[in-house]
Amino acid sequence: MRTISFYSNKGGATRTTSVFNISAVLAKNYGAKVLVIDTDPQANLTMRYMSYKTLENGGSYAWIDGISTIEDCFLAPQRMRKAVVKDAIQQCMFPTKNGEEPSYHNIDIICTRNKDMSETTLSNVEQTISTGSISKEVLNKVLAEVGDYDYVLIDMDSSIGPLNQMSLESSDYVVTPVHVDPNSKDGIPSFSTFFSERKSINNHLEHLGFYSVRVNGNDSYAKELTAELEGLLGSNLFDTYTKEASQANWSLDNGIPLCWYEPGCQIAKNYVALTKEILYRIEQKEEN
Ligand SMILES: Nc1ncnc2c1ncn2[C@@H]1O[C@H](COP(=O)(O)OP(=O)(O)OP(=O)(O)O)[C@@H](O)[C@H]1O
Ligand SMILES: [Mg+2]
Repeated sequence: MRTISFYSNKGGATRTTSVFNISAVLAKNYGAKVLVIDTDPQANLTMRYMSYKTLENGGSYAWIDGISTIEDCFLAPQRMRKAVVKDAIQQCMFPTKNGEEPSYHNIDIICTRNKDMSETTLSNVEQTISTGSISKEVLNKVLAEVGDYDYVLIDMDSSIGPLNQMSLESSDYVVTPVHVDPNSKDGIPSFSTFFSERKSINNHLEHLGFYSVRVNGNDSYAKELTAELEGLLGSNLFDTYTKEASQANWSLDNGIPLCWYEPGCQIAKNYVALTKEILYRIEQKEEN
């Protein structure tokens, strides 16, 4: 099992869109069994992956009632953790465009929130980690109980707080989407500091690199910055990038990853290429 965190210290970098689509490509094209863990209190990934349940409930998020969340997994007493984790793992069922029965494609999720949908959920966890009441090892303990997955992908928010520190300190790999804009470029040194601090605690952690996102081929600034990033990051910049495309939003809105929503479109192909490059980079790291 390989655990890959999708982390950027900038908001809106397409972490959630990436986890949504890359997990799907891993399952569809590589036959992998994938678990995604949503640790972002906004619950965007949770809502996208569980949208079929929402539809079943006439558009209401009441479906989340009773579901155990990642917070429950973290706060469970050790002797109960296995059962709580098992209970928290939900199958992702993808609706089809023409309204057929949703189908399961080997992707499971641990959701970030339950029925109250409060964004303050997980702040408990942040506090208990920072006061030392639970150790940062708790995510490792949860991962030890999830069962037999090829990949665990973690969606995170952009903070540098205890929860995200823990996610990186429990991961094998981290990968960083970077939007081609001045603020994102300026955030790269802070990312590198954050990564180095986590690596000093988890020396197993490897950064697979940065990939540019939402690139608009007609944008002269994006072209120049892309060239600058190539110089700045060298081999830490992926060859693959994602293009600006409305299909990315349509697929999120419908709760259907691009590889099933519209496999022939450019952005769907971008995610296939990105997944391939992630796997190639993992292979390279593991050979060395
Ligand atoms: N290729 C794309 N083209 C156009 N829009 C996109 C593309 N990919 C993602 N988006 C949109 O960009 C926005 C940011 O994406 P996303 O929510 O995945 O980023 P994030 O890093 O998870 O953000 P947050 O900081 O809110 O967690 C969303 O509105 C998403 O629908
Ligand atoms: Mg997100």
